[in-house]
Amino acid sequence: MILAIETSCDDTCAALLSIDGALRSSIRSSQAELHERFGGVVPEVASRRHLELVEPVVREALREADASLDDVTLVAATQGPGLIGALLVGLTAARAIAYARDLPFAPVDHLHGHVAAVALAPEPAEPPFCCLLASGGHSLLLDVPAHGRLDVLGGTLDDAAGEAFDKGARLLGLPHPGGPALEELARGGDPHAFRFPRPLAGRPGCDLSFSGLKTALMLRVRDIADDLPQHRADLAASYQCAIVDSLCDRAMRAVAASGRDVFSVVGGVAANGALRTALTDACAARGVRLALVPPALCVDNAAMIALAARHVEPLAPADYLSLDAYARSPLLSGRAIA
Ligand code: KG4
Ligand code: ZN
Repeated sequence: MILAIETSCDDTCAALLSIDGALRSSIRSSQAELHERFGGVVPEVASRRHLELVEPVVREALREADASLDDVTLVAATQGPGLIGALLVGLTAARAIAYARDLPFAPVDHLHGHVAAVALAPEPAEPPFCCLLASGGHSLLLDVPAHGRLDVLGGTLDDAAGEAFDKGARLLGLPHPGGPALEELARGGDPHAFRFPRPLAGRPGCDLSFSGLKTALMLRVRDIADDLPQHRADLAASYQCAIVDSLCDRAMRAVAASGRDVFSVVGGVAANGALRTALTDACAARGVRLALVPPALCVDNAAMIALAARHVEPLAPADYLSLDAYARSPLLSGRAIA
């Protein structure tokens, strides 16, 4: 069995996966409430909370899987990208467990983890496929030719899609994390009430951009400051609709560029209902099969880290003790990673 730990941001997660790929347990302890009063994740606060939570979360994952550490044959953890202090807690805890039991250890890239979650879709997809990874820190259009390989087709020129949701939510006075709160508010609004730009829509390529959209919302909020309360739901719905349209437009360009006939969407923003509906329609119109991952496996979790670990060369104890966490994705320095 694989034991995986994920602590790259503000969720403390552990999961157990059978070697054949069956998910035995996945525990996620969110720190959202702790960070709410700061309006965003405070890295040092996140690290300290991970320290308190990592052991109980691993115990809970073992309990739910009806397993003990004796059943574990491989330990995995997220190495990066993410908050360094937060990553180090999970990485160190996982290696300590592995070292004490003389087990191999698999360091996993968080973005590879998100993409690996496609294996747990109700109708799972195997590579090759084309994929949108939209989270709080990243927005990438990827070609996935094989397990453990990601080729970048396009990425954001400024903010990530999740960041656009979070910053928009803050402008509308919504609590952190902004994505789910904005989606909830948008349910009662008219997506056509306000006209927002669709950044880069119709332009060639698969890159994304959200900073202009965020500025447009900021100006609208300022313009109607006195009447904001009665327009909040319409603003949320219209702003969400612009993000979704933009993601869909660029995603369908990526599908065409990759020539793949299977598409998936992963990362926290993939939990968004409006995006799921729009991609379902867009893929159906093009005869592309859409593999939708359950929302709980779109947001950060350790099941995806365990899945990705199956395609990582495991390290022996002497080789993993000196491993360091990394903050930035290697995908962003080059446009392909094997
Ligand atoms: O993948 P994730 O859990 O963490 C990162 O790797 O960043 O993604 C978190 C992001 C946050 O920006 C959050 O607001 C966004 O995903 N998110 C959503 C929804 N659920 C989470 N955005 C829009 N609608 C949602 N339902
Ligand atoms: Zn993530």
